[in-house]
Amino acid sequence: MMPLADFVRSTPFFVIAHRGASGIAPENTMASLQRAIDAGAVMVELDVQLSSDRQLMVFHDSVLGRTTNGRGYVRNHTADELRSLDAGSWFSNEFANERIPFLREAIELLRGKAYLNIELKPLHESPDAAEETAALVALVHELGIAPYMTFSSFDHRALKMVKEHDPAILTLALNVPGDKRMPSQVVAACGADAYGCSVNELSKQRSADAIAHDIPFGVYTVNSEEQLRHALSYGVRCVVSNVPDHIVSVYRSLTSHA
Ligand code: G3P
Ligand code: MG
Repeated sequence: MMPLADFVRSTPFFVIAHRGASGIAPENTMASLQRAIDAGAVMVELDVQLSSDRQLMVFHDSVLGRTTNGRGYVRNHTADELRSLDAGSWFSNEFANERIPFLREAIELLRGKAYLNIELKPLHESPDAAEETAALVALVHELGIAPYMTFSSFDHRALKMVKEHDPAILTLALNVPGDKRMPSQVVAACGADAYGCSVNELSKQRSADAIAHDIPFGVYTVNSEEQLRHALSYGVRCVVSNVPDHIVSVYRSLTSHA
């Protein structure tokens, strides 16, 4: 694999599997990550937050109810408690054995097979945010994936902390809904290398600004041909999707007839 920075610069268009292949398996589980690899995803996005005993866990919501049989806030449960939950049955009985992954095992599964987009759910709420960011940076170095991944976040202070620990690690600033600043302003403010926003936030001004400033930018979440056509019409070269293999094949059919 070439380093992610080179891949982004040299690839006309690519798709990121959102929370793994979350359209066909329960999001942010080992099953969804494996299905993303099996579907040939070039990059996989997953979400990270902390257990009460400061373990890095792969999970999206701040609360447990939607995607597990648990209740309450993730941050109020230990890793052992989180690991005892069923994180798959809500999607289908076929996935009843899925557990909330540790970030480490998720990285070990994906390493060497796909680029990683590790989304940091708000860390600044933690009193130990700097220490936790240091642990994250240390983990990606220990596992040897630093050149092949990016940290993304709506929490731009967390991205700044990453850069303070290691300026070489790529970061991607997600636009906070309602923030009217242009991509160049957002990335300049937090030192990020790339910019992302919702497909619904695309505008001519945003895409023109990103292109003029040579800022890699992508949009989430693109699951249909209509959404893909919309994104491509703005010059987007990277989309996040729950159904990455479907969007890759739609892209191929659109461009082969161009
Ligand atoms: O990477 C984009 C996307 O993951 C951000 O939103 O809520 O799905 O984590 P969310
Ligand atoms: Mg995410």
